Amino acid sequence: MCGIIAYIGDGEAGKILVDGLKRLEYRGYDSAGVAIDTGEGITIKKGAGRVDELNEMLGFSKLPGKRGIAQTRWATHGEPNDVNAHPHTDCSGRIALVHNGIIENYLELKEGLMERGHTFKSETDTEVIAHLIEEELKSSENFEEALRRALLKLKGSFALAIIYAGERDRLYLVRNESPLVLGIGEGENFAASDVPAFLEYTNRVVFLDDGEYAVIGKDFYEVKRIEDGERVEKEIQEISWTLDMAEKAGYPHFMLKEIYEQPQAIKDAIYGNMETIGEIARAIDEYEKIFIVAMGTSYHAGLYAKYLFQHLLGKVVLVEDASEFRYSAEKVVDENTLVIAITQSGETADTLAAIKLAKAKGAKVLSVVNVVGSMATRLSDLVIYTHAGPEIGVAATKTYTTQLTVMALLAMAIAELRGVNISTLKEALLRVPGLVEEVLKHDGAIRELSKSLKEARDFFYIGRSFNVPTALEGALKLKEISYIHAEGLSAGELKHGPLALIEEGVPVVAIAPSGRLFEKMVSNIKEVSARKGFIIALGDSEELKKVSDVFVEMPSLPEELTPIVYAVPLQLLAYHLAVLRGNDPDKPRNLAKSVTVE
Ligand code: F6R
Repeated sequence: MCGIIAYIGDGEAGKILVDGLKRLEYRGYDSAGVAIDTGEGITIKKGAGRVDELNEMLGFSKLPGKRGIAQTRWATHGEPNDVNAHPHTDCSGRIALVHNGIIENYLELKEGLMERGHTFKSETDTEVIAHLIEEELKSSENFEEALRRALLKLKGSFALAIIYAGERDRLYLVRNESPLVLGIGEGENFAASDVPAFLEYTNRVVFLDDGEYAVIGKDFYEVKRIEDGERVEKEIQEISWTLDMAEKAGYPHFMLKEIYEQPQAIKDAIYGNMETIGEIARAIDEYEKIFIVAMGTSYHAGLYAKYLFQHLLGKVVLVEDASEFRYSAEKVVDENTLVIAITQSGETADTLAAIKLAKAKGAKVLSVVNVVGSMATRLSDLVIYTHAGPEIGVAATKTYTTQLTVMALLAMAIAELRGVNISTLKEALLRVPGLVEEVLKHDGAIRELSKSLKEARDFFYIGRSFNVPTALEGALKLKEISYIHAEGLSAGELKHGPLALIEEGVPVVAIAPSGRLFEKMVSNIKEVSARKGFIIALGDSEELKKVSDVFVEMPSLPEELTPIVYAVPLQLLAYHLAVLRGNDPDKPRNLAKSVTVE
């Protein structure tokens, strides 16, 4: 998991690459490096640490040169250290490359190359590629052909940027199962794992597909197939995100900024899909066998959708962790199956594998995605975009509430097709952005509350029905950024084991809006209180206030839509606890924004 960027043009490559790396740090940040053509060969600077520290120490941005490549790394093979940091080179040092992904057959390739006299410096899978190209160059007419022949020998996922000392007017880029996009400028061109890396310079992009490589110069770009070297015509797309949208806009962290962007993001998710959702509803309504596949937060959005589909439509829906589905669903998926893949990045390896399995079995695939042009969108029959805008904080916030929003829209559109009267729900959904705005006003109070909770060792989150996913998501948010152990569970499950862990002062967050199961929630809260647990309750009723230690007052709305609004105070709680405990909520340890390896 890494972020890569490449530049060629008249600008100062060092500075452009470092700026881009900083915007890619959400993809990995344990080490970084650059390779720049300084006119006296290719100069490499790299090391373990964050981009800013390394730039200060090693002077990445001060290197002279007009073409170069760079990477910020999240280790997969080989510990994060100076030697394993990218770029990696061949024996001669004339070929340097950066990589995002995993080369599955690197050990076998490495052995063969060592037998032929190649010397390896790092423990990475990546270095094999540089030596492999060097080896192919011995018997090829030109560098491009050597590269292509080397690529044909690789198994696994790889986005690559490659610089070769022997061809000073070009760079090479490769995509196979890891994201890579070209940025087309005036007299300069870019490539990166994600658009914000070069958005300051151009919003004109070309998305590479799996199995393609590109050759870019300062005034040209060509995309070709790895398989046969044939040219592929690609359309230039204009991205409407401004750089401002991808930056912090005055908030101390991206995560907080993104939490605050939710009213607008939810509005965009509703209005951006309103016109087309009916068509998607019609295309999938006939399916009775439905799987939802996703990971992490997106999985929780899938669980919410399950409750909604069952409740509003009477449809049986199975929600599966994509990493399990990909190895267990072979015999149960067929052409009568609908697979809904929820993935904000559209690049999560397990979710993509689940989509590929579904396609191979003839199923219809609908993806719910935030990143336009991502792999999931290209593999699927149908796509719903969540329109949340770029999310830089590693912890999903606005991409989650917009996933919930579009799943609600979809369920409602199907219900409408079937003649179910959903006017109350529809009207309530339109009020949701305003209600989220209201709930954000609890920010100060939640920060205060967090001060008294920051030493807690364990947290529990309980909910019922539509808010079981809310409980799971609240717990996930807390553990990933505050590093406090947290469990989310259905309130009914409490007595079947976890209640044994409740003792005096253990925080239990109860998600208890008015609705069919409110009284049941009150009973569960009392069970916790009897063990002296500390109840933080989210709800809209006086009765709840009476049974809780801390009451977070929520606006009233139909229970089907409460998860969208109730997620927000839980995000704020996790955020403040993380900050109070001295953590960087944007870059939680051991985690990366999109998990493009298995
Ligand atoms: C948690 C989080 C992850 C992602 C998961 C799936 O805050 O962000 O759990 O939800 O890695 O990612 P996508 O949605 O990109 O497939």
